[in-house]
Amino acid sequence: MLEIDKSLKSIAVGVIMLTVAACQVATEEAPQAWNPLDDFEVLDPASIFATPEPSPENSTYSTEQLSRGRYLVGLLGCGSCHTDGALVGDPDPGRLLAGSSTGIAYTNPLQDSNPGVVYPANLTPDLETGLGSWTMERLITMIRVGTTEHSASSLPVMPWPAYASITREDALSIAAYLKSLPPVRHAVPANVNRGQPAPAPYVHFGVYQSRPR
Ligand code: HEC
Repeated sequence: MLEIDKSLKSIAVGVIMLTVAACQVATEEAPQAWNPLDDFEVLDPASIFATPEPSPENSTYSTEQLSRGRYLVGLLGCGSCHTDGALVGDPDPGRLLAGSSTGIAYTNPLQDSNPGVVYPANLTPDLETGLGSWTMERLITMIRVGTTEHSASSLPVMPWPAYASITREDALSIAAYLKSLPPVRHAVPANVNRGQPAPAPYVHFGVYQSRPR
């Protein structure tokens, strides 16, 4: 159980748990004794408000638009998910916004031994592994309504509903800023459907309420 001071923090950021390799549990021998939390480690994610320098020479947008985009990406903490290591509290400052090899479970791993997992994408404009081939329109739509090429419906986990009321100009500034970044080549693992084993570790954000005793 968490102490009081820790539990307040956990409610603010969600309880983060990283899966460890051995997920097999002896449910047959001792079903009562199984504590699913034994398979997880509690970690604190890092909030990333730092943003890489844009390269205005890579952009047809004004330096004001790029600065505005940079300011918004920092303020909205996009790097907290989209940076390697950030979700497990050990961000790689050289790979800001270049995607995360640690995924996020979108179904509860305490109930599903193989939850669905998404890996935050590489947001730098690398052609093969990032947003290099995305049009501005597609990026703006993704930020405001949460759709991408892999999915016509809204994505799980990516907090697009929180950004849905952003103005078009602000979404455009974010898109222009991301497209002006130095490209970083980094392929994140493919997303995993519920029921399939995840190829790479993942965290889970959850709020858990104590049962009355
Ligand atoms: C809580 C974590 C989280 C935060 C914060 C977050 N994202 Fe994401 N984002 C994700 C995940 C996870 C995916 C992959 C979802 C999927 O593939 O289903 C994603 C996908 C995307 C994609 C689609 C990329 C692709 O290749 O499909 C874009 C663009 C994107 N995010 C931009 C942003 C921007 C811009 C911000 C900040 C304004 C942001 N994200 C903040 C988790 C996050």
